[in-house]
This record gives sequence, structure tokens and C-alpha cells, in this order.
Amino acid sequence: MKQHSLFSVPPRETGRPSEAVPPSLSMTAEPLPQSLAPGQPDGEPHVYPDKDTDQDAARAAVLRAELNHHNYLYHTLDAPEITDEAYDRLFRELVEIEARRPELQTPDSPTRRTGGEVLPDLETRAHSLRMYGLDNVFSPEEWQAFALRAKRQLPEASEEIMNEWWADPKLDGLACELTYENGVFVQALTRGDGETGEVVTAAMRTVRNLPLRLRGNGPFPARLEVRGEVLMFRRQFEELNQRQEEAGQKTFANPRNAAAGSLRQLDTSITAARGLRFLAYSAGQILMEEGGEAGRGPWEKHADLIAAFREYGFETPTGGRLCCGLREAQTYYNEMEAKRDALPFEIDGVVYKLNDRDAEEALGYTARAPRFAVAWKFAARRAKTTLERITIQVGRTGVLTPVAELKPVSVGGVMVSRATLHNEDEIRHMDIREGDTVIIQRAGDVIPDVVGPVLEERKPDSVPYEFPRRCPECGSEASRLEGEAAWRCLNMSCPAVLLRSMVHFVSKAGLDVQGVGARWVEELVKAGRVRNAADLFTLEVKELLGFERMGEVLAEKFVTSLDEARRAAPLERFIAALGIRLVGEQTAKTLAADFEDMDALEQATQEDLMRLPDIGPEVAASIRAFFATDSNRTLLERFRAMGLWPRRKERPMRKETALSGKRILFTGTLSRSREEFQNMAEAAGALVAASFSKKLDYLVVGENPGSKLTKAEEAGIAVLDEAAFTALLDQKEGESAR
Ligand code: IVH
Repeated sequence: MKQHSLFSVPPRETGRPSEAVPPSLSMTAEPLPQSLAPGQPDGEPHVYPDKDTDQDAARAAVLRAELNHHNYLYHTLDAPEITDEAYDRLFRELVEIEARRPELQTPDSPTRRTGGEVLPDLETRAHSLRMYGLDNVFSPEEWQAFALRAKRQLPEASEEIMNEWWADPKLDGLACELTYENGVFVQALTRGDGETGEVVTAAMRTVRNLPLRLRGNGPFPARLEVRGEVLMFRRQFEELNQRQEEAGQKTFANPRNAAAGSLRQLDTSITAARGLRFLAYSAGQILMEEGGEAGRGPWEKHADLIAAFREYGFETPTGGRLCCGLREAQTYYNEMEAKRDALPFEIDGVVYKLNDRDAEEALGYTARAPRFAVAWKFAARRAKTTLERITIQVGRTGVLTPVAELKPVSVGGVMVSRATLHNEDEIRHMDIREGDTVIIQRAGDVIPDVVGPVLEERKPDSVPYEFPRRCPECGSEASRLEGEAAWRCLNMSCPAVLLRSMVHFVSKAGLDVQGVGARWVEELVKAGRVRNAADLFTLEVKELLGFERMGEVLAEKFVTSLDEARRAAPLERFIAALGIRLVGEQTAKTLAADFEDMDALEQATQEDLMRLPDIGPEVAASIRAFFATDSNRTLLERFRAMGLWPRRKERPMRKETALSGKRILFTGTLSRSREEFQNMAEAAGALVAASFSKKLDYLVVGENPGSKLTKAEEAGIAVLDEAAFTALLDQKEGESAR
């Protein structure tokens, strides 16, 4: 099933540990689904049995329990079950009750804190200044009311000061605070519950756009806390999900969940591989001089602070600028909403901050949010339509993905006629049926998602959906492997699998042939001109010109790019292009470093393969199975005959070093980036592993090495510190390492 479903609609997931749900919730667990009923927008106050004479008190208790529960799901488990909007409505209802009846406020009310609990497995530390959340507004009227309230609360400030707002997009990621001491990055904390965050220093160090040292000549503040959002850009998100799917691992519902999952890793090499980014938008505590007084620094305006961040080398949210009053705030909002899909990352609104930092300080905070800043959220892009049919799409690895064929409907200005249903379990959980009225939503430009059926509108004769047991393309029996969510077609010559494999072969993840896109491959297959990837290389300009929309320039490019790939493709790209199950780009690299060519790889036994870093029994078996299949061998022979037969690149080894051919892994915090060390090791002929295994020759440890050090010691693997590693770089082979 989809592991991190953003919204899970009736019936509630049953696999969740029941102790995670406060007992008081049991009676509220069911009413939520009805929130999808027409005329009752989600999150609208529900009617609960009222045993208490004090309705407000009872309702407040229910809301607190419910909000705490959803906080926990959202912040601690990264697995929210209701929309942000639904949450916001419940939250506001509680705020409203507590404002009217202050005596009902309790110390544990979610209105008094900003987030979820802290995970037990990462060390936690207190923020020097609390990290607040933001209040939301949803309309120009509400924005205006917020701005007027701020004005009233600070009557002594000039009209001009109270009218000038810094606006930037509201980034949909994870808030994080970085600390710099005398210009050097020393600590990163997640927001956590606002008071205390998780220490993610090592993980954040792997984030590429994070300055490890502030740019410029200084002098730098003795201590500077920079706050911002950790994000996964859409492209990285899609690539990650593709890799996860190929490996039969869980996929993430959205970039925010993917960013959270990637940051809270005890193994920071996983974080490093995920391509996270940090965008800076505000400051925590600032201490200009050692022994001085902690404060807000010399920047009088928020705009100056942002400019300073940029000079220091931070990326800041795209398109931030000053807005004067409601009209400009509204213009900015409209512009951002229109640009939303074109941005490389997801945003869910606009944040407005008073530009004047004195006014900011004077206004301060309510119990839960600043009085000087507010988020104007975009309306959710949802719509109701009819699910006409469920069709099954066959992927390159044979995975059968159910697709909702919808009566076309406009969602936030885009016509949607298909949405993914992920897998069999997901359909069963939601009890989605053909003919149902369904709610769909679009988040960014990610494939639209089905939120759930509107049960009230279900036709009486509808029947539960039966997931097919046969491949819809070739009719062969499908199978669902243990531990996997997906059904697969295992027929190697299934036409759909072949087409997708061919598209993969020339794609970026494969040989990366420029100009040969999915559309053309499909067209050539349809025309019966190509049946497998080898056929592509037999195409000539003349015949290509016979295809509609194919001009001379494109046809030339098509043929030359393929020829270039044929002559010059590196072995690792070739291996990746073959689409061997469980062999992605990283594993292909490992194999290409160890084997001379495909002949050598074919000769490798299961044991030979498993000696390599990152290759376990499953991957080894999958590689063996690939070579054991006749159709694959025939295809390889054709590639060989046409000259597409790459050999291992001779490593540019300046000299044989003591590290040549050695398997090595880095862990802990090193004096330079992990990547730099990996490059040095590779240049010295070492094979860099991506994760721990008993097959390692060396483990190089920096500060706070964690569990890998213990494991290495237990397994009797040689442990080196940085200095010992550097010494080995220059040592001749055969000399002793110790
Ligand atoms: S400024 C005092 N600017 O949204 C608060 N926050 O729902 C100053 N967020 O956790 C925050 N984008 O961390 C600011 N451009 C932006 C933001 C932003 C996202 C986060 C913020 C908070 C959450 C509130």
C-alpha cells in the first residue's frame, strides 16, 4: 500500500497500533469520513453525543484529543490522515471556544504548542528561542483583519511601518534551525514541538546548498541561528519514488513526507543520496560578539536580513519581495498561485512578515503564533467527479498499477481525467468502486490522487473492486510477491513490459540518449518497426522521415545520438539501461567497477556477486535470473554484434595505492564533505560502499560514528580515522596499513 497516504478516507486504516489512538478518539474515528459528504465540507464541526451538560467543555476535550492525535500522525509519524484544511478548521474551532471560555484552556491544549512530539531515536535539544508556527488566513478579508489587528496592537508605530510586509512563498517542507558559530555551521535542529527539536546536524551537513561556512570575509556573528525549510524538490521526489518502486520499497505520498523521511535518518548517507535543499527565511537568536548580549542582530528590516542571508551563501525562497498593504499583498498572492506549478518545489500559500524588525519584536507572540506574521493559504485543489472505470497500467518491471479513469473535471484550472490508485491494498482500504462518486485532489504537479469515495452517493448495485489476477496486456497470470504491495506480470515478452523497458533503455536513467523520447519509441513500436531495444539502433534517417512530425533535423539527431551511445556508452549506463530488477544506477556503478564487461558479469556466481558492497542475496539472484533468461541473452548477443559492448573504464589511477580494490565506507562527521572523501577514495582505486556490510575492508570514522563503528568492531573490520585514511591514500600497495 501507499505508506504515507496524505489522506486516508473510510474505512480508517486498521493496521495502526491502537495505543497510538487516545481512547477518547474511538467515538470520533467514524464521523470524520462523512466530512466528504456534499454540502458538508471536510472538517466542519461534527455533532457528537453530548453526555455533559457543558457542551463547550465536552467539545473542547474532544477537539484537543483529536488535534493531538492528528498532530502526532502528522509531525511524529509523518502519516497524516486529514487535510491541512480540515485540521485548521478543528484548530480554529478550539481557539474560538478557548477565547470565549478562557477557563476551559488546559496546559496540554494543542493551541499552546506548535507541533508534534520528538522521535525517541534522535537526540533532542532545546531551541534557544521557541520556533512558532504561523496562523493562517484564507481570504483578503481575513488578511486585512490580521493586518488591522497588528496595527491596533501597536498604535505608536507609523502607518508606513505597519503597512510594509515582506512576502515570500510558504514552503511545504520541514522547518529547521541552523546554528553558526563565528561563521561555521555547528548544529541543526528540526522544529520538533517548537521548544525542543531533534539534532540533525550530521544529516543537514549532507544538504548540498547549505553553507558549511558563511561566505564572505566576516567578521561573522559569534552565534547566528538561521531558520528555514528543508525541502525535496519535485524532480528529486519523482526520482526517489521511481527508485523506491524499482526496489519494491515504499513510495512517498508527497515531497514533504519524503523530505521528512530523508532528514530523520540515523544513517546520513541515505539523507545525502536524497538531494534535500535548505531555504532560509528567518532568524532565531543572534549574538554579534562573544560575551555580548543575544538579540536580533544589526538588521533593521526583514529585507536586510534576507539580503544578508544571501550574501552569507544561503538560498532563500524564490520571489520574496515587499508588499504595501492589502492590494499588493493580494497581487502577490495571485501571482504566486499562478506560478505555483512552475516552481521546482511545492508551496501551499504565501507568508507575510512585517518588514520592520522593531515592530516585529514589539508585537511578539500569542500562545502559539507570531502577531507580526501570517500565512495566507491557497485553497486546496480538490474536486468531485465520477470514477468511470479502473484500468491497469503495466510498468517496465511488470508492476500492475491501477489507474482511476475519471469523468474529466477541472481541478484548480487543470482538466483531470486520470488519477493513480497506487495498488490493490489502497483500493481495498478506501473501498473504491467503479461507478463511485469520488473526491480527487491535485498537489503541485504530482499525479492527481483519489482521496476517497463519497459513500452517500454510492449506487445501490455497486460491487467491491476485484483486482485482476492476470496481466491486462498479455493475459499471463500475475503474481504478488511476499512483502510487496504490487502485483506483477512476470512475462518477459509482455508487449507492455517490452515497450516500457525500451523507453527506460534510452531514458536518463538508462543510456540517456538525447532526442529519443517515450513518444517516439511508442510510435515506432506501434508501427511494428522496433520490437526491442536493439532494433532502435538499426533505424535510418530515410525511414524515420516517413513518420509524421519527424523532420530532418530531428531524424539526424535521433540516429547520431543512438550511434554515439552505441560507441561510447559507459558500462555502468549500459547495465542500468538493461533494467535488471533491483539493479538501479548505484548498483550498476558497483558492478561496472568490478566486472570487465557483460561476459564477466554473466560468469559471476551468486557468491561472487554477494562479495560486492551493497549486493545482497536478492539482488544477486535477480542478476543471475536476468542472464538465465533466453530472451535477455539473445538481446545481449545482438548488442555485442552491433558493437554496443562497453568495457570497464580503466580507472584514472595515478598509482597503485594500498586502497586499490579495497571496499571502503565512511561514517560520522568528517572534516570535509563525505563526497570529497569518497572521491579521494575512488581516485585511489577504492570501491566506496553505500551501506554497511561484512564485506568491507575499511570503515573510516569521523566524529559521532554511531552504530556502524560497533558493527565494524564486531565484524573485525579495520577501522581508520581520517589521518590513517589519508596516509593510506599515498601508500604503495603491499605496505602495511597499521
Ligand atoms: S517565516 C515566526 N516564511 O510554515 C515564524 N515560515 O505553518 C516565522 N514556513 O513552521 C516563519 N514557509 O516554519 C516563514 N516563507 C516562509 C515559510 C515559513 C514555510 C513554515 C514555518 C512554520 C510553518 C507554519
